[in-house]
Amino acid sequence: MARLIAGVGRDVDAKAFVSGKDGVQWISSLDPLFAEVVKLGDFDGEAGKSLVVYGSRLARRAVLAGAGDEEWYGWVEALRIGVAAAVRAVVGLKNVKSVAVSVEPRLVERALGEGGGSEWVYEQAMVAGDMAAYRFVLKKEDEGGGLEEIVFPEAPSASAGSAEAIALGVKLARDVANMPASRMNPEGIEEEARRIAGKYGLTLRVLHRGELESLGMGGVLAVGMGSSVEPRLIVLEYDGGGPSLAVVGKTVTFDSGGLDIKPSQAMLEMKYDKSGGAAALGAAVAAALLKLPVKLTVLLPAVENMPSGSSYKPLDVIEMYNGLRVEVGNTDAEGRLTLADALAYAAEKYKPKALLDLATLTGAAVIALGNHAAALMSNNEELARLVEKAAWRAGEPVWKLPMWKVYGKQLESKVADINNIGGRAAGPITAAKFLEKFVGETPWVHLDIAGVAWVQEKGPWKPYYQQGATGWGVRTIIEAARLLAA
Ligand code: BES
Ligand code: MN
Ligand code: ZN
Repeated sequence: MARLIAGVGRDVDAKAFVSGKDGVQWISSLDPLFAEVVKLGDFDGEAGKSLVVYGSRLARRAVLAGAGDEEWYGWVEALRIGVAAAVRAVVGLKNVKSVAVSVEPRLVERALGEGGGSEWVYEQAMVAGDMAAYRFVLKKEDEGGGLEEIVFPEAPSASAGSAEAIALGVKLARDVANMPASRMNPEGIEEEARRIAGKYGLTLRVLHRGELESLGMGGVLAVGMGSSVEPRLIVLEYDGGGPSLAVVGKTVTFDSGGLDIKPSQAMLEMKYDKSGGAAALGAAVAAALLKLPVKLTVLLPAVENMPSGSSYKPLDVIEMYNGLRVEVGNTDAEGRLTLADALAYAAEKYKPKALLDLATLTGAAVIALGNHAAALMSNNEELARLVEKAAWRAGEPVWKLPMWKVYGKQLESKVADINNIGGRAAGPITAAKFLEKFVGETPWVHLDIAGVAWVQEKGPWKPYYQQGATGWGVRTIIEAARLLAA
């Protein structure tokens, strides 16, 4: 992670100047050399565009970076994109270890107009800057190196600490999701949770097979049966006092499909099926570092969905933690089985004010919304609005899908209380209708992040995302916790 620094007076290897599309006069006013660049039309402030300029009187390497305009995502996101573009421009330069990023004052003002204070606005810009510098390093030659410092001369000093907390949570989420599945299997997730608990002072509880059996968590157990690594339910708790929020993250460390096996091309992306749990872990770390006044419990039902002689089978009927019996129409609809147990357990044991789950749950969510928004579904209008607001504030767009009762009919089973598949029509919604059966009266929001959890062929494209995991959800959980606490 890069160090994030607020305030002036440091030597840096490069200086970046971020402006919106209609802020290029500001760029021109800084240096006649920039004015010439603008006049030639080589820098126009377009979102995500950048240019390295040499020979400026302001810096040995000057970067001009574009924030575009508010488009559909608003001025704070424009600011994030501009900052991220600036950072990306220097990430590739071998001898640049530090960069200072200055933002066109009017762009900051417009961002402030969206309702956060300047500490928050700069915090968000700084998080985007760090996300843009992220690299997932497994290659030996990539070890060491990377951008070390990002300085924001105009930022309030309080922004740096909170930005580092959030940025670290996002980095952690990306690392866990990016990590190959044979290392970050259910056991690896437990180890990581243990490391995190020790380092950040969180309470850890892990329910292993014996306890899952005595609790009757038939969903987690069934999905985990085919793997040689045992399933487990990992619970991490941060208690800052205040309202309680429970977050369940889908943590299928690898989704082969099970006996309803996926074609090899589709399987290639399924190490990312742990992205929901990864985001929950990252958010727990960020919340603890931020000392948010909430009680945050994150639950990760960690399983590997594998075909083998011991796998659960199509048309099995399994009994879940809440007593419902489920017909397994398809072993590849595994996520909802693991989430259902964890949700029912969280609702019953913690009685949270808000229950949230994040899951790479359905390919159909990608068909519906593509890679530019997560699908949001809920049993509670008020909480849905809160999470929606949090997500958009965080730069993580969501779009709500209906939860009409009639969709539930698609899950009817002749042999059990409910089927785990509802056919091709309305895939994300029938999955959510399935989960709804397990949350009781608890206010709950489900986020299907299948399209946004990692960068796919059609996005999400933002300069603060690179190939691989996006860490989607960490920032939404943090903003939601802040709204709940307010
Ligand atoms: N993890 C997948 C969903 C997924 C697929 C996410 C592609 C991102 C990209 C999930 O477990 C799954 O396999 N879902 C099935 C459900 C179906 C069997 C009802 C799907 O979407 O095809
Ligand atoms: Mn699956
Ligand atoms: Zn899955």
